[in-house]
Amino acid sequence: MSHAEDHEGTRRDFLYFATAGAATVTTGAAVWPLVNQMNPSADVLALSSIEVDVADVAEGTQLTVMFQGKPVFIRRRTAEEIEEANAVELSELIDPVARNGNIAETADASDANRALDENGEWLVMMGLCTHLGCVPLGDGAGDFHGWFCPCHGSHYDTAGRIRKGPAPENLPVPVASFVNETTIQLG
Ligand code: FES
Repeated sequence: MSHAEDHEGTRRDFLYFATAGAATVTTGAAVWPLVNQMNPSADVLALSSIEVDVADVAEGTQLTVMFQGKPVFIRRRTAEEIEEANAVELSELIDPVARNGNIAETADASDANRALDENGEWLVMMGLCTHLGCVPLGDGAGDFHGWFCPCHGSHYDTAGRIRKGPAPENLPVPVASFVNETTIQLG
């Protein structure tokens, strides 16, 4: 293969990646402008529920999808992340409320009350900092190995609970459920 052909192949790969990346993007504030530019049309914004294929989400990684114009983090947690979340005493939490749209408003913010499944493997949350709405960085970011909002320094733990910084509340858990083994419905 000539150098020119080789270059062409690389460019095609990149274009393919960019197209695929438009539907689901990796985490972080850096990619937010890209998501923002997508300008979802009114009918997409209005959808009351969407189904997300999570078959390819490996343990220890996170998918960010847009739902009703907002980013939603879908993380498949490692055993260590689950263990770390469970080891936290409720008395250590800044916000002791679950903030989970699937359960009672008064439920406490134990990890079991925030995770989507019984094993605690899946955590689904709105990807907007509860301080002023920046998109927090994930993949173990911050002092509590969960998410970190660089805008004003809010640290969330591996269950998405606020632990340090100006954000007043845990990252909200939206209404979500598994419709089959590899598909999560939002809304
Ligand atoms: S918006 Fe996240 S810390 Fe201010």
